[in-house]
Order: sequence, then C-alpha cells, then structure tokens
Amino acid sequence: ADGLNTRAVAAGKEYFGSATNNPELTDTAYVTGLSNTADFGQITPGNAMKWDTIETSRGTFSYTKGDEIASLAKKNGQLLRCHTLVWHSQLPSWVKNGGFDNATLISIMKNHITNEVTHYKGQCHHWDVVNEALNEDGTYRSSVFYDTIGPAYIPIAFAAAAAADPSAKLYYNDYNIESAGAKSTGAQNIVKLIKQYGAKIDGVGLQAHLIVGSTPSQSAQTANINAFVNLGVEVAYTELDIRTTTPATSSAVTQQAQDYASTVAACKAVSKCVGITIWDYTDKYSWIPSVFSGQGAALPWDENLQKKTEVYNAILNAWGSA
Ligand code: G3I
Repeated sequence: ADGLNTRAVAAGKEYFGSATNNPELTDTAYVTGLSNTADFGQITPGNAMKWDTIETSRGTFSYTKGDEIASLAKKNGQLLRCHTLVWHSQLPSWVKNGGFDNATLISIMKNHITNEVTHYKGQCHHWDVVNEALNEDGTYRSSVFYDTIGPAYIPIAFAAAAAADPSAKLYYNDYNIESAGAKSTGAQNIVKLIKQYGAKIDGVGLQAHLIVGSTPSQSAQTANINAFVNLGVEVAYTELDIRTTTPATSSAVTQQAQDYASTVAACKAVSKCVGITIWDYTDKYSWIPSVFSGQGAALPWDENLQKKTEVYNAILNAWGSA
C-alpha cells in the first residue's frame, strides 16, 4: 500500500519511521496508525531506553518498557532505532550527582552500555550512542561525563557499544545541526575524534526539531548532509517535527508542508541519508506544547489522529512516486 514509508523505500531509503512511548500503547487507534507499515517502517522509543528508565539504581537493569516497544516493532516487521545510551538528561541522580572519579565513571558508563546493548543485541538497526554532547557554539556541553572524563567519554562509549553489538549501526545524535554552522562543525569534529581514537561510528543523527518558516532550505540541508557523508558516515533524520504557534493558521500549515518537503527532498537527494523518523506521528502525543508554551501542531497527524492532508501529501510527493 502507498504511504510515507512505501515512498521512502521506493526512493531508495531504508525507512520512514516514528517515535513512540509506552503510555500511548494503550490507545488502540494510535497503535493501529503506528503499526501501519505503509507509513512507518521503523519505530524509536522516545523514552523507554534512556538511562533513568533502564538503570534506575546502580547495577539494576529494568528492560520492561524498552522490551514492550522492541516487541511491537518485531510484531509489525518494523526496524528499531534504539535511543539513547549516554546523555546528560534523563539521567538518574545516582549517576548525575554521584561524585565518581574518572576511572569509576568510565567503568559505570561502559557497564551501562555493555549491559543494555547486549540485552538488545541483534534488535537495534541503529543505536544513538551519545546524544547532545554539544553547546550551540560547537564546544562540548558540560555534563557529568564531560566534566569527569573529558571528550574521551565519547569514543569510549562508541567502542563499548561496538564491542557489545558489532552489527548495530552506531550514531552520534544532536539538534540544530541540520545546516552549516558552528554546531554542525562541532558534530563533524566528533566524528573525526571517534575515528582518531580508532573507534567505530557509522552515522550522525540530525534530530531536526525545526520551526515553521525558519526550516533550512533544501540546498542548505543537502550541503550539510554531504559534509557528514564526506567524513565517511551515513546520516539519518532522527526526531523530525516542525512546530508553529497554536492554533496553526492555514498559511502556517501551507508553509509547514513546504518545510517538511524541503527536509524530505534534502534526504532524498543524498543516497547516504538513510531514513527519516518523526518524533511521534500525532500532535496528540507531541512533547512540544509542554516545553514550548503556545507552540505545537508540529506533526503530520493532528490531535484527533486525523491526517493533515496538505502536510502528508507534501511528504509523499517529496519522496516521489511509489
Ligand atoms: O515518567 C514521569 C511520570 O512518572 C511523571 O508522572 C510525569 C510528570 O511530569 O513525568 C514523566 O516523565 C516525563 C518523561 O518524558 C516520560 O513521559 C518527563 O517529565 C518529561 O520531561 C519527559 O520528556 C521527554 C524529553 O525527551 C525529556 O528530555 C519527552 O517525552 C521526549 O520526547 C524527549 O525526547 C528528546 C530526545 O530524547 C532527545 N532530543 C530532544 C527530544 C525532545 O526533548
């Protein structure tokens, strides 16, 4: 059947996918939409595989929530993007405030990665190994990992993930790296750093939490993707949504459709851009209104799980014919 994923695959991509979260899986109409592989060939757990869910206390691992989403993907025949191993946010206080020395924190981080990646071995098409390590100016973000270990925490994390599941593609993932600038350059430097250490990195995730009317042009996005590809890695759009002031006006929706189309066309243009994930598929479950007051309406399905035809069709057409 025709759909967003069918068109992406016809354009040579691996998938078009959506994020999801455990509480939403009791909403049967929602799950029916998410499980439609014509639209979604991949799912990403929005929260279920983060450190504060998986290893709430030191050495105790709870995989129930992550497993629920992994099983759904398997049942539906969808790929799974696993998200995320090392991030400064959604980190349990025993890690964040632990006051560990360098060697101890390295061993805690490696143990977390080894345990979780081993648990999901063979199931994760991609792993977001390190998430959001950069400030907007391209310097390293202060975090318990950076402040204790220094930049080496990044290649150490990638090496541990590669050892635990050699076939998962390993990604660095960040936002505001969808067009050229200091932060995108910083992400390119992270790719180089990981390779200099002799560790493996396969891809860079462009989160793409974009804004209606200020989404980078297709050519700016294509050039940026190529800057990563030229370093020997692939690229994926990992958390795409395009927010606006709510309620959205009809002109905003028209602009939003164009902004989605520019982003899809940029990915389509570069063979090593392997796929696009939207950060959930419906405004009903979007993270945006709780963080950006008065904004939202960022996804191709509205709060009543109805397709926004103009936006949906713009994505279909940007992928090209089925
Ligand atoms: O689990 C608790 C629940 O027990 C409590 O009752 C409730 C009350 O606020 O909060 C629940 O935790 C929330 C959690 O999502 C699970 O729903 C947190 O408050 C909330 O802050 C958290 O938000 C998530 C956010 O990451 C945290 O930074 C969003 O759902 C998730 O979509 C978002 O995803 C991130 C990506 O991982 C990385 N890139 C940016 C993106 C958007 O922020």
